[in-house]
Amino acid sequence: MNVTFTLNGKEVTAEYEEGMSVLDVLREVCLIKSCKDGCSGQGFCGACTVLINGKAMVSCRQKPESIEGKEIVTVEGLDLVEQEILSKSLVKEGAVQCGFCSPGLLIRIKGFLDQHPTSTREQKAKAITGNLCRCTGYQRILDAMETAEENWQSKNQDISGPPRRNKFFGEQYGFEREFQPKEHGVGSSTQRYRGVDMALGKKPYIADMEVENMLHGALFLSEHPRAKVINIDISQAQTACGVVRVITAKDVPGKRVIGHIIPDWSVFVAEGELTKYVGVVLAMVVAD
Ligand code: FES
Ligand code: FES
Repeated sequence: MNVTFTLNGKEVTAEYEEGMSVLDVLREVCLIKSCKDGCSGQGFCGACTVLINGKAMVSCRQKPESIEGKEIVTVEGLDLVEQEILSKSLVKEGAVQCGFCSPGLLIRIKGFLDQHPTSTREQKAKAITGNLCRCTGYQRILDAMETAEENWQSKNQDISGPPRRNKFFGEQYGFEREFQPKEHGVGSSTQRYRGVDMALGKKPYIADMEVENMLHGALFLSEHPRAKVINIDISQAQTACGVVRVITAKDVPGKRVIGHIIPDWSVFVAEGELTKYVGVVLAMVVAD
C-alpha cells in the first residue's frame, strides 16, 4: 500500500504494510527519528507528536491512509529560528533531561504558540497534558513555554542567562538561594550537555539507529503472574513471514538465572518452571 503526503515541505510517497501507523511510516519508511515511540502506540505519552495540517497530534494513533494529501511537519521541518527558540528555551529552563519526550513536546509547544501568542500558565499546562515527561517535572517545561512565548513573536533567538526557576529546589522548606554564578562555576546553573541536540531529536537512542540488513527483536511475555509453563510451542512462529529465529530458554548456553543480590530472575522462563510475574520472558522473536 502507498500513501502520498507532504513531509517537511516535500511531497513523499511511502510504501507501508497493514497494521502500520503514521509513526511507523515516519520512523521506519521515511527515517524521521525525532518522533519517538514511548508507549507502543497507545496514544498516551505524546512522544510521537507531529503537526498534521498545522495541528499537533500523536502520530501513533493515525492510520497511514488518513494522511493522504496532508501536510506533516516534524522537528526537522521547523524553520531554523523556531528550532533555536524552542530548543534553547527548553534547555535554558532545565526542561530537558533524558530528552526522550522533548521533540514531541517541542512540536506541541510550537503548535500551541502558533495559535496562542499569549496565554496563562494554566492554559499552557492544559496544552501539554497529552505529553508525558518522566524526568523533568512539568514546572520547568511551563517555564520553557513562557520563555519561548516571550521570544516567539519577535523571533529572538538569543536565549541565554539563568533559568527562571533559579532558586534552590528546597525553597518550599524555607531555603532560598539566588542564582549567583561564580567565576569557577560553583553556584551557577549549567545547561544539559547536548540538550539542544536532544530537544531537536538529533541525539539518537538505540531504537533510532539503523544499520544495513538490521533485524528486530520482540519479546513474548507471560500474561500470567503465577503459572507453570508446560510447553512452549514455537513451530508456528518460526515459519511466520519475516521471522529469522525464535529464541527460548533452551537457546541460552550459559547462566540463565541472574540477580544483583540473589540470583532469582530468569532471563527466559523454561518449560517446567513457574512464572513469577506478568511480563517474564518466554520467548524472543527475531524478524526483519
Ligand atoms: S507513542 Fe504515540 S502517544 Fe506514545
Ligand atoms: S522523559 Fe526524560 S526529559 Fe522528559
